[in-house]
Amino acid sequence: MPQRVREKVDLALRSQRQHTITVLSCLLAVQDAFGYIPKLCIDQVAKFTGSTVNDVWGVISFYTNFSVNPPGEHILEVCWGTSCHILGAMDIAKSVLEEIGLDNEGTSSDGRVTVRFNTCLGACANAPVVSVDHKLEGRMTPDQAKVIVGAIKNIVAEDLDIES
Ligand code: FES
Repeated sequence: MPQRVREKVDLALRSQRQHTITVLSCLLAVQDAFGYIPKLCIDQVAKFTGSTVNDVWGVISFYTNFSVNPPGEHILEVCWGTSCHILGAMDIAKSVLEEIGLDNEGTSSDGRVTVRFNTCLGACANAPVVSVDHKLEGRMTPDQAKVIVGAIKNIVAEDLDIES
């Protein structure tokens, strides 16, 4: 298993097309390939970029979008950037966390959903905004957020319909 992971990481690292390869670009490539950064590839990224393991950890810990833990089946992001904050993002975040049973960002105990906070989902005109598996839902309310969480928890991915 670890060998398979290392081979997949190696492919992700070597498949980068841009001229400048950095620790950041490598981590983005790995996260694209896995959905997270497997801890056992940290030394691989360090070696590939001529950096130290500490350098790589430094980049991972600086950017909140990197995670070293596998995500849940669905990713629910709550934007709490300025526009969303002004229009009630904190109440939405509270509603989502309560419904899932989390105190903060993280993954539900059943592995069904990962909650992340985002500083801007790029749809400020529709604030407050959440995204479910990268699909944006604007003008959110705390009650609508609960419905979305319920859908994620109870319906298989193909049937996930958060419009209703
Ligand atoms: S601040 Fe929430 S989408 Fe931009």
